[in-house]
Amino acid sequence: MAISKKVKTAMEDSSWVRRMFEEGEELKRLHGVSNVFDFSLGNPEMEPPPSLKKELRALADHPIAGMHRYMANSGYSETRAIIARFLADETGLPFDERHIVMTVGAAGGLNVAFKALLDEGEEVIVPSPYFAEFRFYIDNAGGRMRLVDTHDDFSLDLEGIEKAIHRNTKVVLINSPNNPTGVVYDPSSLEKLATILRKKGQELGKTIYLITDEAYRRIIYDQVKLPIAFQYYPHTLRVTSHSKDLALPGERIGYIAVHPHCGEAEALISALIFSNRTLGFVNAPALMQRLVAPLQRNSVDVRVYEEKRDLFYHALTSFGYQVVKPQGAFYIFPKAPIEDDVTFVKDLQSKRILTVPGRGFGKPGYFRIAYCVEKQMIERSLTGFEEVAFKYGLKKTG
Ligand SMILES: Cc1ncc(COP(=O)(O)O)c(C=O)c1O
Repeated sequence: MAISKKVKTAMEDSSWVRRMFEEGEELKRLHGVSNVFDFSLGNPEMEPPPSLKKELRALADHPIAGMHRYMANSGYSETRAIIARFLADETGLPFDERHIVMTVGAAGGLNVAFKALLDEGEEVIVPSPYFAEFRFYIDNAGGRMRLVDTHDDFSLDLEGIEKAIHRNTKVVLINSPNNPTGVVYDPSSLEKLATILRKKGQELGKTIYLITDEAYRRIIYDQVKLPIAFQYYPHTLRVTSHSKDLALPGERIGYIAVHPHCGEAEALISALIFSNRTLGFVNAPALMQRLVAPLQRNSVDVRVYEEKRDLFYHALTSFGYQVVKPQGAFYIFPKAPIEDDVTFVKDLQSKRILTVPGRGFGKPGYFRIAYCVEKQMIERSLTGFEEVAFKYGLKKTG
């Protein structure tokens, strides 16, 4: 066989998102694109803010000599210095450009971080439900993923995390705002998590690193403030990108920020830079590094997402679905009215609605809706959600 057995198995077992996407393509062929309500992919329909176009034009009009050349594997010093200043303002911590490594999106950043930190067989604890790609990123670095279920409201099960930590644990990875649930972990849970990591680290005589996947850090609602993990625990790496806040997922631009007081920070940063180079990323895209640097305080209009969240949340709850109200990201993760989430998702497909079964995120019995789509598509899909709710007796009267 041409391809590795490992990749073959991974491809077969994985990616419900992809599978739904492919089934959706078939539905679109049959019914026409505008008659299929596709909530399967987290691909923002919004355009980047006008400030990006302005920067792009300025750079095209006044190109900088050498701007397309290779550079330091950590990225442009000017860009990293601007991000470090932003982080220093945000956290009150002494960030400087050495603490920032520019990466090929958050996905690139996570791969780089795992490669730099993990020895063969070392474990990464991940609260579940979780973004399914984490498993592969951890495996790419020879690590193992250990899942710990969250509570019914998708908040962190801190006792469960404490119990799961043992001598092989190297990293705890949290993702907030969360894909697929939209939940934001509150300050008190971060504080308690930090206490656990300190205590377990002392007991085990090692440093347990905290990686915070903050790909959705600016997509946040109801005036909720995203707690700053850096302020609770020094051995923290923030991995983030501009895929969502500046609506640039195709441009692949993100960064890793290492807490200035992180254990063995210097060695770790060198390892991150080495991993960025040798994983074949070499460096983050040059043009994007220049463009996003001045836009650190910009983002797409988050109220547009909030309005869509409200629309879905109110409609689904009125139809009788059980839903934890998302506080961020652009996903909603309702409970399916039957245990078999795949059958339920097929029912929705019969109404030309595409969603992803919860088992694709380690949580059977639920389904994920990605609402980064046009408002009109949401409005037109609601009858289908209502009809399926009737079918399962969630809603008795019209
Ligand atoms: C939780 C999470 N982390 C990371 C990523 C990767 O984002 P990027 O486009 O920055 O690589 C995604 C993308 O959807 C995501 O949902």
